[in-house]
Amino acid sequence: MKNVKVCVIGAGGISNSVHLPSLRDIDGINLAAICDVIPEKARKLAEKFAISETYTNYHEMLVNEKPDCVFVLVQPDQIFRIAMDCMNAGTDVFIEKPAGITLFQSESLVRASKDAGRILQVGMNRRYIPLIQAVVKRMREMTTITQIEGCFVKHGDAAFYNGCASAFVCDTIHAIDILSWIANSEPANAATVISCVNSPVENAWNSVIRFENGIQAVLKANYQTGGRVHTFELHGPNASAYINIGFGGEACEATILHCTGIGTFSLSAAGSGDFVIEKFDGKEIAKSDKYYRYYGYYDEDVAFIGSVRTGEKPLSDITASLRSMRLAEYILTHRI
Ligand SMILES: NC(=O)c1ccc[n+]([C@@H]2O[C@H](COP(=O)([O-])OP(=O)(O)OC[C@H]3O[C@@H](n4cnc5c(N)ncnc54)[C@H](O)[C@@H]3O)[C@@H](O)[C@H]2O)c1
Repeated sequence: MKNVKVCVIGAGGISNSVHLPSLRDIDGINLAAICDVIPEKARKLAEKFAISETYTNYHEMLVNEKPDCVFVLVQPDQIFRIAMDCMNAGTDVFIEKPAGITLFQSESLVRASKDAGRILQVGMNRRYIPLIQAVVKRMREMTTITQIEGCFVKHGDAAFYNGCASAFVCDTIHAIDILSWIANSEPANAATVISCVNSPVENAWNSVIRFENGIQAVLKANYQTGGRVHTFELHGPNASAYINIGFGGEACEATILHCTGIGTFSLSAAGSGDFVIEKFDGKEIAKSDKYYRYYGYYDEDVAFIGSVRTGEKPLSDITASLRSMRLAEYILTHRI
């Protein structure tokens, strides 16, 4: 197995909490260097994760280190240029979400990765959460999914990263990406209500979407609520999945309700129908109670390193993220 030489750009929160711990756990990696414009931040993480070299200039790092791949873990408005420079320097690239702060940037990134012949993976970690993978697989065994709901609400500022872009593109995109991935179709119609509550910028987006293949979806996002709640519902004839990946904290559990015979007309008049309930524990499925392992970050990094080795496109390749960014744009432009 080829040893993969990895460099990291950005020694901030996401680097420290999930990507460097994940990379430390993956075999066959040479974590060669880390770069941050603030030298102490690079030094601190280099020491913590036993990375040999630190840089403040990523151009210099690319020339000196000649890595196989680079993780670009910087603020959303910085990602585009750095990803371009890395691909032009001949490396495969992992970028954190969003895939550029505009649809225009996402489209340019798709063309650039194609022209450079490089893997460009986007950090849409929800797709890789072992719990979500298991629930979607089980649902597909039992039914045809016809309806999906994604909810991401928080209490905070919707002008993300000093106002470089909206929470809708920087954060709600996680929920939109799951709708896009599971529906696996283009939007045919949508109706979106957008509001602005206690905020100088819009901060609540509620939308109903119909995809070309007939799947219906509901998106609920609001950044002035009681706190972080992140859930998904999947429905189809005979089966419904309720996925909870956040209620205040970092929940990771799901329940599937499966109709096994007679359906329910009225609980009070005719009693409940025939059903079974299956419960899923995300930490058990991931075989870890570490957040970076049960919340999809480790698995997305494993997938990326695998793609660097094989050249095969990963699940959250830039083209998949472009589809999610197009859906985001569609939701916004179908405002009522
Ligand atoms: N997938 C997720 O669940 C998730 C969660 C949080 C953040 N993110 C994404 O991760 C990215 C980073 O977020 P964060 O919260 O860690 O940010 P952060 O501000 O904590 O860290 C970013 C770091 O990048 C450095 N940096 C910026 N420009 C640089 C440059 N040109 N060269 C070298 N270093 C540079 C900054 O100095 C900073 O230390 C964002 O794009 C964000 O959207 C993803």
